[in-house]
Amino acid sequence: MSGQVLVTGGAGFIGSHISEAYLANGWEVVVLDDLSRGHEKNVPAGARMVRADIRSPEARELLATGKFDVLNHHAAQIDVRVSVDNPALDADINLVGFVNLLDGAGAGGVRRVIFASSGGVIYGDPEVVPTPETSPKGPISPYGVSKLSGEYYLRALGALRGFEGIAMRYANVFGPRQDPKSEAGVVSIFVSRLLAGQKLTVFGDGRQTRDYVFVKDVARANVLASTVAVPPGGELDAPAFNIATSVQRNVLELADTVGKVMGKKVETEFAPPRAGELLRSSLDIGKAKRVLGWSPSHAFDDGLRELVAWFKEEAR
Ligand SMILES: NC(=O)c1ccc[n+]([C@@H]2O[C@H](COP(=O)([O-])OP(=O)(O)OC[C@H]3O[C@@H](n4cnc5c(N)ncnc54)[C@H](O)[C@@H]3O)[C@@H](O)[C@H]2O)c1
Repeated sequence: MSGQVLVTGGAGFIGSHISEAYLANGWEVVVLDDLSRGHEKNVPAGARMVRADIRSPEARELLATGKFDVLNHHAAQIDVRVSVDNPALDADINLVGFVNLLDGAGAGGVRRVIFASSGGVIYGDPEVVPTPETSPKGPISPYGVSKLSGEYYLRALGALRGFEGIAMRYANVFGPRQDPKSEAGVVSIFVSRLLAGQKLTVFGDGRQTRDYVFVKDVARANVLASTVAVPPGGELDAPAFNIATSVQRNVLELADTVGKVMGKKVETEFAPPRAGELLRSSLDIGKAKRVLGWSPSHAFDDGLRELVAWFKEEAR
């Protein structure tokens, strides 16, 4: 089953891969992006690009009149530190902008809205790792609050305006097109620094763990989530899926693996731990396996090789 989808943030890292995956599955794709961080060259051939801010009347109008089956929402302010320094800006883009789109989706009869949430921030410092969807929520940054609040808006406006909502709670996504300047992209940062012959900076003792999922696996999960029967129940967690690997990898292991895959000697320098950083983070993906029929198909090293190849191609 396919249809017409609007991918916001489709000129960015994850959204461009999602746009490609929809096209490969026979969907008609329109990308909406203001190019504040994304690049037009990331938008796949075959997708139509509309340059607009998600907070604008044009964005609402596009959804109200565009006859879309699905809104796949990946445009966002993505930097936790920006959200701490400027929480009003974060809320303006991640909440006011999202609500503007939801209002348009309701007016346009959109059937389903898929929202990029974050399993790395909404559970706070979780007791259970890998963390299941039903774990207590406790975001500690304005960015985390905007992601969790976005899920509540999705549920409330979906019920009021008659569309289905699905929240995708990602772990650390990595792969080609991730901006090494972005805070979340530690894998990209390590690869680009090694290519430039620079040392890798490790915050704290380097034993903090993360769960790294390859972007093409994330894209496939989004296509599956576009047509799966929405799990019943009015609870916030019912239509939410952790998208991750359930495998924990610490920063020192990460640095080592990146060095091995690239055939480079790794030199590390240690910096003080960053305030508020979680010690352990990994998500339970049992529900995505059961309900979406999804599990990650890229081994970490294979994803890393694709990322390195992309960096080399970009540098030519
Ligand atoms: N990268 C990760 O590990 C990760 C983890 C959890 C959640 N997410 C979420 O996934 C989504 C995509 O993240 P990404 O890593 O691909 O980031 P990205 O910055 O590469 O992509 C975001 C895109 O949104 C666009 N955008 C930003 N503000 C906009 C606005 N006001 N109007 C229109 N377009 C706007 C940018 O130009 C960019 O192309 C975000 O919602 C992010 O919060 C990412």
